[in-house]
Amino acid sequence: MNRMYNFTMSIPTEIIFGEGAEEQAGMQMKRYADRILLLYGSERIFRTGLGQRLTARLEEAGCTVVPQGGVTANADSELIRKAVRVIRDRELNGILAVGGGSVIDSAKAAAAGACLRGTVEELFRGDIEPEAFLPVGAVVTLPATGSEANGMAVIQDHETHDKLLRYFPQFKPRFALLDPALTVTLPARQTAAGGFDVFAHAFERFFDLRRESVLLDRMTAGLMKTVTECLPRVIHDPGDLQNRAEMMFAATAAHSDMLGPGGDFACHTMSHILTKEYGLAHGAALAMLIPAWCREMFPKNGERFAEFYRQVFGEKEPRRGQERLETFVDEIGLPRKLGSAGIGPEKLAEETMDSVPQVGEGFCDGMNEEEIIRVFRRIMP
Ligand code: NZQ
Ligand code: ZN
Repeated sequence: MNRMYNFTMSIPTEIIFGEGAEEQAGMQMKRYADRILLLYGSERIFRTGLGQRLTARLEEAGCTVVPQGGVTANADSELIRKAVRVIRDRELNGILAVGGGSVIDSAKAAAAGACLRGTVEELFRGDIEPEAFLPVGAVVTLPATGSEANGMAVIQDHETHDKLLRYFPQFKPRFALLDPALTVTLPARQTAAGGFDVFAHAFERFFDLRRESVLLDRMTAGLMKTVTECLPRVIHDPGDLQNRAEMMFAATAAHSDMLGPGGDFACHTMSHILTKEYGLAHGAALAMLIPAWCREMFPKNGERFAEFYRQVFGEKEPRRGQERLETFVDEIGLPRKLGSAGIGPEKLAEETMDSVPQVGEGFCDGMNEEEIIRVFRRIMP
């Protein structure tokens, strides 16, 4: 008997999808603010001309624009503190984030940080609560996290390197501009890591057994199937805009409320420790962990895995399905094992257990320490 659990969902972000979406930057931003921090990572967006075009659209709409670059992968908290200082000094009242998840998450953190008496690190450690939030808009250049339409932000503490997560409904960006053409400059490795993260967001939901819904199963499986088909095509032909477009909307759909509530997120929890200790990209860590997690957890509920392999890869035989999953990772060029032994599976498991009260929530009551160690052991060289 199905007993899909109760949930609430809200996707307030206005999604503007397709060619020329950036044209709307000024008009959209002006609805919420007129003194804008243009937040970005490297100078790439000015080398390609995107930064200039966005600035022009904002100014045409009557906004004052203050650029702030320097966001690095994983959203280092020091840059966020710097952005907060600029917002206060220049009396800004809104943020336009231009880039991938790290920039959008930094914008969310700065949007709360600018209205806070304490520091962003204190907020993300849960020591203090937010007081208010500046409005954020997003121009996505890397389809991956879905941060452009969700309330999650992940930052890295500059001092301890811990990855810190917080969720607030008010973190949801007011609008997201999604033009697939902005993603063709991505190096293959970033395309692959980002694309695997998209797969992972649907995967973690599929393995949350509390959801118990045929519709949600089919939606998440359909998304994963789409990624396994489209992502290799984009890797082989970076200029393939049709498949870039599929990936871009898949990213937003996968990690907003569109695929329904919940998620197991055991692999995500483990991935944050790998990112911290090995400096891996978020999606690259997941590409190692998910196949290993499947092999380790299969005996706990073979039926669920059979359903996964059948719906996503069309394989009736689980062994063949697992091979297809691993071939998919190989095909997009991501490694399935760590390059060096580093600190070892026991220490990684200990840190994972220290970071959260429970690893995994929806699949067979989560993972114990032994299981976590064995998953890490499977990806050791
Ligand atoms: O600095 P720039 O020039 O923007 O370069 C970036 C960066 O070096 C580059 N890039 C982005 N778009 C490009 C491009 N290079 C060429 N052409 C383009 N069009 O890609 C690099 C990586 O960007 P980053 O934003 O770090 O990647 P991603 O979007 O994968 O974000 C990863 C971060 O998001 C967190 C992760 O933990 C990690 O910190 N997550 C956030 C989530 C959320 N908010 O919902 C959920 C996720 O599970 C994840 O944890
Ligand atoms: Zn992710």
